[in-house]
Amino acid sequence: MSATASLKNTGLEGVSAGNTAICSVDQGALIYRGYEIHDLAENATFEEVAFLLLIGHKPSASELETFKSELVGARELPEPVIAYLTSMRHALDYRTAVPMDVLRTAVSMLGNLDKDSQDSSEEANLRKAKRLTAQIPTVIGHMQNVIDGRELVQPDASMGHAQNLLYMITREKPSDEEAHVIDVSLTLYAEHDYNASTFTSRVISATLSDMHGAVTGAIAALKGPLHGGANEAAMEMLKEIRGDIGPANDTEQIRTWMHRAFQDKRKLMGFGHRVYKNGDHRAGILHKLGHAVADKKGSDAAKLFELGEEVQRIMETEKAIFPNVDFPCGMTYNVMGIPVPQYTPIFVAARITGWAAHIMEQHANNRLIRPVSTYVGPELMKWNG
Ligand code: SDX
Repeated sequence: MSATASLKNTGLEGVSAGNTAICSVDQGALIYRGYEIHDLAENATFEEVAFLLLIGHKPSASELETFKSELVGARELPEPVIAYLTSMRHALDYRTAVPMDVLRTAVSMLGNLDKDSQDSSEEANLRKAKRLTAQIPTVIGHMQNVIDGRELVQPDASMGHAQNLLYMITREKPSDEEAHVIDVSLTLYAEHDYNASTFTSRVISATLSDMHGAVTGAIAALKGPLHGGANEAAMEMLKEIRGDIGPANDTEQIRTWMHRAFQDKRKLMGFGHRVYKNGDHRAGILHKLGHAVADKKGSDAAKLFELGEEVQRIMETEKAIFPNVDFPCGMTYNVMGIPVPQYTPIFVAARITGWAAHIMEQHANNRLIRPVSTYVGPELMKWNG
């Protein structure tokens, strides 16, 4: 038997890799610093949640005003980063680079140009966390305008964080409802304890490397379709089903498509979770908001949600596998006119707050993260034996 074949790859399932005061994820509840996710989605804005994650407590009214104006004031990008984004049109057109790749490089460049780049003190880390939270939506917006071959749209200081993000992508002032839906989706995506990309950021910061480097690694991890890339992959899967069965949501044809996928042992994107085996607390919240938007957008949008709900029904009843947050996210962002390749970058625009909180927590009480492995390679031999 080959050496690797004998190794059951557990993916560290169920292993606690450390303590955190930032977030608790289990089937019972999702909690950010003591606040449950339904409470936050219902009652807090993304700016308030970002403050809670980065600074550690619910902001007072004056703290929130200061924080919001700091974010608005830090949205602009340095010229070299704008020049880089503009230079990527060919690469983006020919898909040698996708938006997640370009965002990863832009964040790394922001590090090269940040006056605090080599300073990992608590104060410098918080300054960098706020700047990245403010700048990433501008990177995403400029990138979309480069892809569309249009003039860059400047951030609008009169708009809140989520509204400005959506405006920079679509170039249209979003309705209050759509701005609210994006805002809640950022809250839902902001933090999720030791997920793959956050753990990546902690491993990098545990060597005492800097915040931009740790975030660059986290973006690379989040891109994968088994992780954050699943929101794009889920929408591509629904488009594939739509292409195969046509415009009517014939339930028999959907069932046939799903059974073929089961036979082919396909991973159906937007379903399943390493921790949530009976459903993701976030999925129902976003599904409800997205469906309400779809109902106002006409029949194609409503039929997309109808298709998604039939796919979900079959997964739940026949496989007992439930949607994670990425499944309703794909449908919701689609009916809001957001281009699919920007879905995971928007996930980054939210998760930067969770990553930065974990990087600061790691730096504040650090020990190098270095597990051991089980050797299953060849027995000892002599080179000249
Ligand atoms: C995110 O960790 C986090 O917190 C992540 C996240 C966050 O906020 O940071 O929540 C965000 O990444 C959500 C997950 C997005 N990924 C996807 O939607 C990709 C599709 N999902 C699967 O690849 C899978 O469910 C994982 C990777 C998410 C979790 O996989 P596990 O825990 O390693 O479970 P597994 O692959 O071992 O599956 C157990 C069984 C397997 O069947 P058997 O091989 O034992 O017969 O369930 C099956 C799997 O085949 N299964 C699926 C499936 N998910 C699990 N079968 C079909 N489609 C799926 N989506």
